[in-house]
Amino acid sequence: MAESTPSEFQGTSPVDIPIVDLSNPNEDLVARAVVKASETWGMFQVVNHGIPTDLIRRLKELGTEFFELPEKEKEAVARPADSTDIEGYTTDYKKDGEGRKTWADHLFHRVWPPSRINYRFWPKNSPDYREVNEEYAREIKKLSEKIMGWLSEGLGLHRDALKEGLGGETVEYLMKIIFYPPCPKLELLYGAPHHTDLNGITFLIADEVDGLQAYQDNKWVDVKYDDSGIVVIIADQIKRISNGRYKSGEHRATMDTVRTRLSWPVFAEPNLDHVVGPLPELVLDSTPKFKPYVYREYKFLKMNKLPLD
Ligand code: OGA
Ligand code: NI
Repeated sequence: MAESTPSEFQGTSPVDIPIVDLSNPNEDLVARAVVKASETWGMFQVVNHGIPTDLIRRLKELGTEFFELPEKEKEAVARPADSTDIEGYTTDYKKDGEGRKTWADHLFHRVWPPSRINYRFWPKNSPDYREVNEEYAREIKKLSEKIMGWLSEGLGLHRDALKEGLGGETVEYLMKIIFYPPCPKLELLYGAPHHTDLNGITFLIADEVDGLQAYQDNKWVDVKYDDSGIVVIIADQIKRISNGRYKSGEHRATMDTVRTRLSWPVFAEPNLDHVVGPLPELVLDSTPKFKPYVYREYKFLKMNKLPLD
């Protein structure tokens, strides 16, 4: 097959990441499944999540259309060279420490809260872009708060504990559209190297090309998704707030030899000035495993691979 990949890049495990059906009327069971998956994998897929399939299809169409535009038109929303913020379109080709390179073009723009939206970085390729992304943001926020509610109760805390730990209504939702070009020689390039996300919790959808892998029990597991699933990745700040009860899911993205791949993670993250650390209620009789950090500083240290704890 044209898409066959060297074995190093194939998931070796026959296991799948946990799948949680949110339409199950037994909410206790659903909550327990979400808690267990977050303790063991730090990653799971939700199906029957209630976000309309049409909305997701439209969101993907609009993002795909943007990446099909001529380079010059994409540059209209480019991240300014002197920007200290993440928003905008960038084409990124960089070397990691081991000499292998990563290559993906991407577009970042915040989608929530409204006060932090900068429409200057939203594509203008379709008059629908704004409405569809705003609607998707509202849906993802609802899903995110539902999941964080179950995770809070799983810690023996009130429903809003994790959301408040991340900054309550100041929590930001950041859309990233990633365009991975095809790569005929997979040993030269990664899409995204082995990492955990530095935000609070991530919600990822992708086109029909596989590529996302989870690292579990020293093995890479291919994440299989179709149009109906959303991949939920527990990220660093929820791990830290929960004093390590929840795991920050390790993952990477491989490239395809002949096809482009697009993915749409939304990162829920604290405001840059918010201080995040283990919740006091969780460290009454135990020592905190993590230092509290202003999120801006955490981000800087992690992105520059500096010591954290
Ligand atoms: C990321 C990431 C995976 C993917 O952007 O943090 O892990 O499948 N992306 O694109
Ligand atoms: Ni990631």
